[in-house]
Amino acid sequence: MFNVEIVDSFYEKEKPFFSCTNQQSLLDAMRLQGVRIKYACKVGGCGLCKIKVVEGEYRRGTCSVSGLPYDERLQNYTLACKTYPTSDMKILIQI
Ligand code: FES
Repeated sequence: MFNVEIVDSFYEKEKPFFSCTNQQSLLDAMRLQGVRIKYACKVGGCGLCKIKVVEGEYRRGTCSVSGLPYDERLQNYTLACKTYPTSDMKILIQI
């Protein structure tokens, strides 16, 4: 089980932490623990659940190029529905 810290100032007043296993997507963990995030398809297609990883390691499943262009992947953007932590993480949700 890994700890994920949300570093957006907006979430300081809400729920700045949640936990996630390496078998669970960040999106599923957030939804289960009441963290607000936009999403639609849950399969890496629409790009609505895009976040930025500030710190930490993760595995990324298949994401569409329209949802997550290659240049954004290089800048540590990812799709929460296809991202599985392999360490504690810090993320930005409102990017
Ligand atoms: S919900 Fe559509 S890409 Fe994550």
